[in-house]
Amino acid sequence: MQITQLLVGKDVGTKDGLAQEMRNFVYIIEDTTNKRCWLVDPAWDIEGILHKVDEKSLEIEAILITHYHPDHIGGSLFGYRIEGILELLDKKDLPIYANKHELEWIKRILGKDIKCRATESGDKIITEGGKITFIHTPGHTPGSQCFLVNDRKLISGDTLFVQGCGRVDLPGGNWEDMYYSLTTKLAKLPKETILYPGHHYGPQPISTLAEELKSNIFLKVRSLEDWKRLMGIV
Ligand SMILES: [Fe+2]
Repeated sequence: MQITQLLVGKDVGTKDGLAQEMRNFVYIIEDTTNKRCWLVDPAWDIEGILHKVDEKSLEIEAILITHYHPDHIGGSLFGYRIEGILELLDKKDLPIYANKHELEWIKRILGKDIKCRATESGDKIITEGGKITFIHTPGHTPGSQCFLVNDRKLISGDTLFVQGCGRVDLPGGNWEDMYYSLTTKLAKLPKETILYPGHHYGPQPISTLAEELKSNIFLKVRSLEDWKRLMGIV
């Protein structure tokens, strides 16, 4: 299983000023044995993303959503219309996987009730070349989820960034949930796990869990009390 990381504003959506500021990553998870792929958070430039898929001669199996925010699924942000899964569904009829706790939020953002396959933590997509495991990591949003590819590569959405973590002050965010998602779920994955975040906010686009456990203060935190202090909660 291979992961292609697309930086919006650079690899796709190159003419979009807001995209360049937001620094989102879109991912293509590819099963190299059968040329099938899954798109993670396709937004900003659907044509550009589909072009990347075509260049690799891949067939799209499904859309995977990390969370409901419009910079990940499309919708309205700061009064600006971002392309996303609705525009993709206009071109291709594809199944969508979203965590069961995120479905209402997605509906609200898109203004439309799209059919999603509701996922739970531990669910898996099994394919010829391996598997994608869904990990529910609430905190940034109630139904945020990460995708663990072949137990080795983690697409972490806005839960964990290189040298950072997602905000917990947006609608549906919960600082305590974020603490437990980071410390009891992501920090427990094998140290050699490669991290693919939802935004390019760090010094480099990818990292390893070992490196983050060593130097990311949001992952190194040892207690809920320390976490409260770190998040400025009194
Ligand atoms: Fe987000």
